[in-house]
Amino acid sequence: MEVVRSVAAWRALRANWGTGVEIGFVPTMGYLHAGHLSLVQMARAAHARVVVSIFVNPLQFGPSEDLAAYPRDEARDLTLLELSGVDAVFLPSPAEMYPPDFATGVTLSGPLVERLEGARRPGHFAGVATVVTKLFGIVGPSHAYFGQKDAQQLAVVRRFVADLALPVEIVAGPIIREPDGLALSSRNVYLTPPQRAAATVLRRALAAGRFASDTGMHDAKSMLAAMRAVIAAEPLATLDYVDVVDPATFVPRDHGGPGSLLVLVAQVGKPRLLDNYLWRADGTWDTGSVAEEGHA
Ligand code: PAJ
Repeated sequence: MEVVRSVAAWRALRANWGTGVEIGFVPTMGYLHAGHLSLVQMARAAHARVVVSIFVNPLQFGPSEDLAAYPRDEARDLTLLELSGVDAVFLPSPAEMYPPDFATGVTLSGPLVERLEGARRPGHFAGVATVVTKLFGIVGPSHAYFGQKDAQQLAVVRRFVADLALPVEIVAGPIIREPDGLALSSRNVYLTPPQRAAATVLRRALAAGRFASDTGMHDAKSMLAAMRAVIAAEPLATLDYVDVVDPATFVPRDHGGPGSLLVLVAQVGKPRLLDNYLWRADGTWDTGSVAEEGHA
């Protein structure tokens, strides 16, 4: 596995691989867990070469967010990626990505970037869109892999890739969960043991929303009420938002039938925890899958 830290070094390696080689790409901010590695496995199964980037992108953190404290463990990440059969890791410094004369940004408009995460984290999606566009420009992948865990980010990426006609196909991977249902997240390390136990409330609330719809209450109001009640019963959790939206536009839906997304964010101790259930247009549910035992 090659580890490259500059655009120039990456271009030299890329030239060695020859033209026409198909690259599957997984962008990350590191501190890898089985959720990230599931995306790597999907890419490994489908492409001749797999490239992973590790870059804690300052542009997507707000002034009061955890940029400096964001968990990092480069040595462990590199071992996990080597074991996963990755061909190259792109690990740039902030100065490599954003030299002093850097002056370009990718911004979107509309409900997709103004609602929910977009409303809570002004500038966040512009930061994501800018770095991902730049990473695509550097790496030149045919396919790039993103987790359903960050459903709004996934929709944002699909939007600017379509709008800018970027020559890359976006592939989504399911939410990978702990055996008790908590979605894996690098920020779960902030949870104390009692908070960790309480954090299953997100999954339980989504299950209650799904159950409300299964029993015939398809209107979004009933689903939202069922989810809110579960969160309200957990003293260590504070609801940030819950919504039933169109998964591509994030416009709210009155009727939570197939083709809708249940999104939920709650604060448990320090971290804001995100989770969602996707009710696919074909009527099946994507509720994620449990991490394989012994995985990171
Ligand atoms: P990061 O939070 O490191 O996540 C990298 C990728 O892993 C994202 O596509 C995310 O959705 C996915 N992921 C995280 N937890 C997951 C889980 N439990 N199951 C499945 N996939 C999961 O998202 C980012 O980094 C950044 O915003 C980035 C896209 C790299 C741009 O800086």
